[in-house]
Amino acid sequence: MTNLHVSTHPLVRHKLTLLRRVQTEPKKFRELVQELTRFLLYEATQDIGLEPVEIETPLGAMTGHRNASQIGLFPILRAGLGMVDPAIEMIPTANVWHLGLYRDHDTLEPVTYYNKLPPQLDVDLCIILDPMLATGGSAIAAVDILKRWGATRIKFLGLIAAPEGVAMLHQHHPDVPIYLAALDQGLNEKSYIVPGLGDAGDRQFGTG
Ligand code: PRP
Ligand code: URA
Repeated sequence: MTNLHVSTHPLVRHKLTLLRRVQTEPKKFRELVQELTRFLLYEATQDIGLEPVEIETPLGAMTGHRNASQIGLFPILRAGLGMVDPAIEMIPTANVWHLGLYRDHDTLEPVTYYNKLPPQLDVDLCIILDPMLATGGSAIAAVDILKRWGATRIKFLGLIAAPEGVAMLHQHHPDVPIYLAALDQGLNEKSYIVPGLGDAGDRQFGTG
């Protein structure tokens, strides 16, 4: 599928396996979410623009490069919160705008409960952070919000997705590239990703 990037890095596979294990307790789970986010963000930012910058090294002058894009990070609450720290460590100039979305347990429809985006678009590239892409409802709602805000360059960075969610996000927003650590088998009768890792918010925050 075009616009779908699933990491094949051996360390990503190794760490994702640890993350999935039912025995992995919240402290270790949070550390692994952070480590995996670094790998995937590295891949998702391969094409950001650079501009030349003149610098002096101890041995002379040279033309170097600096990031020319204002990047916005958009963690979806709650589970996306665990991806924020590694992302702003890698891109310290990024803005972070939280989006509060949960999927209703009965209807599975996304419900928006927090959005404080400023009136004017202030980023060149939006990166949505959410470990899980299941039915795709939450991701589609987040992209809808960003597009209504005026965003034209949006990427989705997750850890695990179901093929159903990827297909729905591509159908609604074919221009949004998806970066993942794994594409799993599918959804169960409660629309949880199988084999997945369970509820990513609960496993990070010990609320299961
Ligand atoms: C999880 C996850 C995504 C959403 C994915 O959040 O973090 O946001 O489900 O499911 P979907 O693709 O079917 O929309 P959840 O609604 O459990 O909220 P929480 O992070 O606050 O627990
Ligand atoms: N949200 C999760 O946290 N896990 C799933 O498997 C599906 C949605």
